[in-house]
Amino acid sequence: MVALCLSAESRALSLAVPLAASLLALARARRRDCRNLTAATTVPLKSVDTPAIVLDLATLKANIQTMQAIATSRGVALRPHIKTHKSLVVAQMQRDAGAVGVTCSKPDEAIVFLRGGFDTLLAYPIVARSKLDRVIAEAIASTSRLCVMVDSAAGVQTAAAAARDSALGAALDTMVKVDGGMHRCGVPPGERLTELCSLVDAEPALSLKGIMTHAGQSYGAVDKAGCAKIADAETALMRGAAADVRSSRGSYFGGLRVSVGSTLTELARNDFEGLHEIRPGNYVFMDGTPLRLGLAGASDVSLTVLATVVSMNEHYAIIDAGSKVLSSDKGAHGTDAFGGHGRCWALDDEQRDTSGGAGTASDRAELLSRGWTVTKLSEEHGWIDQTNLGATQRRLRVGERVRIVPNHSCPVANLADEYVVVGPSGDVVDRWPVDARGGVH
Ligand SMILES: Cc1ncc(COP(=O)(O)O)c(C=O)c1O
Repeated sequence: MVALCLSAESRALSLAVPLAASLLALARARRRDCRNLTAATTVPLKSVDTPAIVLDLATLKANIQTMQAIATSRGVALRPHIKTHKSLVVAQMQRDAGAVGVTCSKPDEAIVFLRGGFDTLLAYPIVARSKLDRVIAEAIASTSRLCVMVDSAAGVQTAAAAARDSALGAALDTMVKVDGGMHRCGVPPGERLTELCSLVDAEPALSLKGIMTHAGQSYGAVDKAGCAKIADAETALMRGAAADVRSSRGSYFGGLRVSVGSTLTELARNDFEGLHEIRPGNYVFMDGTPLRLGLAGASDVSLTVLATVVSMNEHYAIIDAGSKVLSSDKGAHGTDAFGGHGRCWALDDEQRDTSGGAGTASDRAELLSRGWTVTKLSEEHGWIDQTNLGATQRRLRVGERVRIVPNHSCPVANLADEYVVVGPSGDVVDRWPVDARGGVH
């Protein structure tokens, strides 16, 4: 019965996926409402219960291919950050396209992806021994490769003790974090970096693999040129930092790897010289920030929130998606992507424009331009201003549906149980669980 729920495409995907059997069983069990989806029955988006997190399969695949093509053409490995989608199916699509493994933020995420068979970089400074014990135990049980990140002497000591007392049987791969100007985590290049690398190198239980950074300050840029400037400065800084570390430790450090990355910087970077790996995350879905910066167009957004207008008054259309669905995020790092809580268009307009299809590239841009901004949120309600409508805007109607491009798609995905996956016709072809949702420990 469950097999009938899968589209031919995702069935092929599932067969190709060497996931642990228990995980696949769990994922299938979580395909709620899936019983309605048979090969002969398609479910149109207008029949899906709202609010729903909708994924356009073709756009998702195109985004995965585009980023992989950037990595391949520039001669760097792609290790996508899965904090965006938290989905084993999407990670498998990334790996099938050429990704070398995944990047995770939190141990909870790492455990899901190690168990799923993914070579995992835990890119977060872990200073609690119990957290590392859990992750290392999963790496041993799953035989998936684990690499941790450190940015302090305390972090080095914790990682070394956890690795030493474990049954790992080999030194634990370790990256040292560089502060590339965001001032969140990492040490500045120079003496503090070379000292920290020496500390890792001196621990027999750890194996220094490389240095990494994340130029999250790119979220504060105003355009693509600004992102390119930040990205190229990051490349130069990391090239210099790697040279310092190599010369401080001798020729055997020639294999030191340099890892960088975010969606905005990878879509804008000119200079990849000296880099080995990029770690963008958001590119699979896109959202208000890459749109604001002109790094992506409306047709590149694969994740939208489907909501229903449940009430109208002379001021606002009220939808059934509030902060518990859209999050209160104004855009990564607090940058105000849309001057509200997302930008939306009406599903009915999309269907009229495209004769029942999912919307062409130009349709999407046009639909968004004459759409509406979600003005404010309460927990279960979104407020769409219906005053001061422009010449091309109409009033919404009770009962009709809107598709919202969120300010920031990553927290939206984390708040959801599942993705409703739509094919090129705009009909639902599958449902995928958000496997590591809520995994913040
Ligand atoms: C360490 C690290 N690497 C990579 C990324 C991916 O960035 P983005 O989602 O902007 O592509 C992030 C995002 O927070 C990060 O913290």
